[in-house]
Amino acid sequence: MVVLGIETSCDETAAALVEETGDVERPWHLRSSVVASQVEIHRVWGGVVPELSARQHIRDICGVVERALADGATGYDAIAVTSGPGLVGSLLVGVSFAKALAWSRSVPVIGVHHLAGHIESLVLEHGELPLPAVVLVVSGGHTSLYRVPAPGSYELLGRTRDDAAGEAYDKVAKLLGLGYPGGPAIDRIAAAGNDRAILFPKTRLTHADRNAPHLPGRRDFSFSGLKTSVLRYVTTRREALGLPAEAPLPSSEVADVCASFQRVVVETLVDRLFDAARYAGARSVGIAGGVSANTRLRADARARGAARDVPVFVPSLALSTDNAAMIAAAGLRRLRAGQRSDWALSADAAMKL
Ligand code: KG4
Ligand code: ZN
Repeated sequence: MVVLGIETSCDETAAALVEETGDVERPWHLRSSVVASQVEIHRVWGGVVPELSARQHIRDICGVVERALADGATGYDAIAVTSGPGLVGSLLVGVSFAKALAWSRSVPVIGVHHLAGHIESLVLEHGELPLPAVVLVVSGGHTSLYRVPAPGSYELLGRTRDDAAGEAYDKVAKLLGLGYPGGPAIDRIAAAGNDRAILFPKTRLTHADRNAPHLPGRRDFSFSGLKTSVLRYVTTRREALGLPAEAPLPSSEVADVCASFQRVVVETLVDRLFDAARYAGARSVGIAGGVSANTRLRADARARGAARDVPVFVPSLALSTDNAAMIAAAGLRRLRAGQRSDWALSADAAMKL
């Protein structure tokens, strides 16, 4: 079976063709993947503007799907589309397009959870993970830990109570005048800084979340306190140096802020990931989502995994940020289990996994 994947949940319009291999260990093969990024449109505004995002998806989707089909040199037997979570107007473009195309070609359509897609990006690239696995999905919109007890099954172990890690990167970058998106800029600049120059606080939650009383608080994340500490630090330094509000700090200081901020984020992510892995008796761990592109996160997680004798899987850079290959792979998983959506499929901005 060949599946056409479509992704429009945020600021990337993407389409891809993924086929079944028949091999149990490496079940999927990527034929083509096309991503049209809207980053230049949103950069001017310092973040994603939902209305502009939805409008741009409408402009790009036909061309993106046509190119994925041309590059893949094959037809398809089903369509998988991200139906949530994400920006509702953006999701609706992909879902409506997928349904119309599926209807006209008489093929089934399946709605896919965006985070199931990020988790399946690991399988697409590395084959089935040793199970049970614990996967950290860390992006601009999410910071969540899942236990994967069996292929295609995901149990939530913890998640952020406020900002996602990528969101914290983007907000801190904006504060430092580093532009959008902030993650790659902070990652690069942090390499030149001293990561112990400023001791920003680490938030450790102990109480359970009212909305999820069954989950122990200690496996949840919170990054808004860290963001506020960085804001306070930068404001105080500006005043001490006699700089006007909004003025950039000297570049050597910016590097120290980036390195110190990044150390706290990465240590928090790696500590929680390996705590959860121990709790869940994991035979492997994975990291997926845009922030998994982070140099330090990859290196620190690999080092911790080596010390604990747990294999660590991360996607290549192309599959770490939003793409449709992961959506096609997650769709294949569900289609093979005999599932499909009906024509009432719609966008669900707050979809649960
Ligand atoms: O998965 P993704 O493309 O979109 C969402 O579903 O959110 O993730 C985008 C996020 C942004 O917040 C971006 O700043 C962050 O991933 N990011 C990084 C790096 N590359 C992208 N964060 C830290 N270090 C990076 N190298
Ligand atoms: Zn994503």
